[in-house]
Amino acid sequence: MYRPQEDSYLLANALADAGGTEDSHVLDFCTGTGFLAVNAAMMGAASVTAFDIAPRAVLTARMNAWTRRLPIRAHRGGLDAVLRHGPFDVVLSNPPYVPCDGEDRDPRWDAGADGRGVLDPLCDSLPALLTPGGFALIVHSEFTGVETTLRRLRDADLKASVVARRRIPFGPVLRSRADYLYASHLAEPGSTTEEVVVVRADRPHPGR
Ligand SMILES: C[S@@+](CC[C@H](N)C(=O)[O-])C[C@H]1O[C@@H](n2cnc3c(N)ncnc32)[C@H](O)[C@@H]1O
Repeated sequence: MYRPQEDSYLLANALADAGGTEDSHVLDFCTGTGFLAVNAAMMGAASVTAFDIAPRAVLTARMNAWTRRLPIRAHRGGLDAVLRHGPFDVVLSNPPYVPCDGEDRDPRWDAGADGRGVLDPLCDSLPALLTPGGFALIVHSEFTGVETTLRRLRDADLKASVVARRRIPFGPVLRSRADYLYASHLAEPGSTTEEVVVVRADRPHPGR
């Protein structure tokens, strides 16, 4: 189970800074314990739909919603399943985004050689997932490629910008991947910190 960490908190704070979720229909994709779903519901969302591929995560998210009597529905599934729901006014995601070399893959955080295995399909799907005027907040590491995310979102006719960033020391996962990150030129050799960023994507109203 992925316990909420710096990236989770950075995204939750970015959501509060964005004005919260009052009366909105919210998607939390890759919900884990449901931390972001709970935050969104407590900020006044009309409904929160949460998805995760891990059965244990879905059960935990359901339990966390139920004990707080919050309007969260947690489902098991990936993006294909999500696309049968929605659209949503707000999409939140802290997806797996750690680049890895194929060994020690852990679906809680590993996301392929460039770390974009879950992120890219999510970016491409946002126009279909968002209502006109809706927005998404996605958190990931600088090592996953912030410019690539911004370009991909803009190519999908969304407005995109970085709205929050925080530099943090490598945790145990990145320490164990440091050699791969250096060797693949994703991180400066010898660096021991990463910048975690929140990217915001807005789907404009038609004609604006
Ligand atoms: C980095 S954790 C984030 C958890 C939580 N949202 C948070 O911020 O604390 C990523 C979560 O994504 C889930 N996950 C991984 N691949 C997925 C996929 N393709 N579709 C949906 N969920 C996925 C994992 O099971 C894990 O719970």
